[in-house]
Amino acid sequence: MKKLKFTIKKISISSKSINIKWGDGKLSYFHFLWLRDNCPSAIHPNARMRIFNLLNVSKNIYPINYLIDKKGDVILDWSEDNHQSTYTAKWLRENCYTIHNNNKYLSPYILWDNNLTNKLNIITIEYQEVMDSDEGLLKWLKQLHHYGFSIVKNSPVEKKSALKILNRISHIRETFFGSPFEVINIPNPNNTAYTADALRSHTDLPYYEYAPGYQFLHCLVNSATGGMSSSVDGFAVANYLRDTKKNIFKLLIKTPIKFKDNNYTQDKIRIHHSPLISLNKDGDFNEIRFNMAAMGTLDIHNDLMEEYYLAYRMLAQLLNDPKFLVNFRLNVGDIFSFNNRRVLHGRTQFNPNSGHRHLQGYYLDRDEILSRLNYLKKIN
Ligand code: OGA
Ligand code: ZN
Repeated sequence: MKKLKFTIKKISISSKSINIKWGDGKLSYFHFLWLRDNCPSAIHPNARMRIFNLLNVSKNIYPINYLIDKKGDVILDWSEDNHQSTYTAKWLRENCYTIHNNNKYLSPYILWDNNLTNKLNIITIEYQEVMDSDEGLLKWLKQLHHYGFSIVKNSPVEKKSALKILNRISHIRETFFGSPFEVINIPNPNNTAYTADALRSHTDLPYYEYAPGYQFLHCLVNSATGGMSSSVDGFAVANYLRDTKKNIFKLLIKTPIKFKDNNYTQDKIRIHHSPLISLNKDGDFNEIRFNMAAMGTLDIHNDLMEEYYLAYRMLAQLLNDPKFLVNFRLNVGDIFSFNNRRVLHGRTQFNPNSGHRHLQGYYLDRDEILSRLNYLKKIN
């Protein structure tokens, strides 16, 4: 039996739209232009792109006839070009913008703080599980999407071997640091990560207009003392600020500030202005860019300077607050994976004379995680 929500109880027409009352009582309005634009014949079967040109019909196009056939499909005869369109009830219901717009926005993000330390198992996955099945891959992608943080355990430890599991998702994002980038202490480093120093909570490469979406740190060697890892949910911190310090939060989301990289190996000077916290169209968190080391010289208005510095300091304090930090040690074979535009990462100083520490890092755009997740969940 057809589900009630996919059954059309009543169909009618008004001056601009076809209106449907569904079996479950919900109401949909479908604007004529929207219906004509989304006629199934408008879409190329393989490219799945629109081949219909909206400008080939007038803005006043309307159905001269509408009916429901025996299968329950909606059939429209258009006032122009003798064109007929057939839509399945299921497609109309699933794509109904009237109903979608009435639904409350649900954030996909599960916010976390230090309490996650005791349940790291919920963001942990075995390398082999991801390699062996789409279910395993889906589980990993969900951890990344919802928590922004996942640790892959027991991966091979040959150099560059993490590429295999990353390619289960998609291609990687290149940057001037190369792929993989070698996180190892070296003389004359072009990044503070390539020292043995502590790195406080930060996101990578904030001076890119489109900062890398996800980061993967594959631990190959970790025998030095120190070098403990940390991670903090920037969205949870931003949420705390929004709840408790409204004015500071507002200042941080509305003030673009300067990020910069001009390290000595580059024949480029990368500069990008962006707020430290930004929101998406639904008012949910979009991204956190935070990296004291990659801040340019602040060039905001004099009247804002003090207020801004105080807000910036407060955010910095919270992002390094034990209440929010999750501390852990990377073991050989772990891949510390996280949303680089949400989750900040850091490490304590390590002693290079006590042993070795070598991570290989990769980036992947956020689009690749989301689109793979859509594909595996069959979301259109
Ligand atoms: C980095 C970084 C952390 C670490 O390479 O961007 O932050 O644990 N590394 O070395
Ligand atoms: Zn980093």
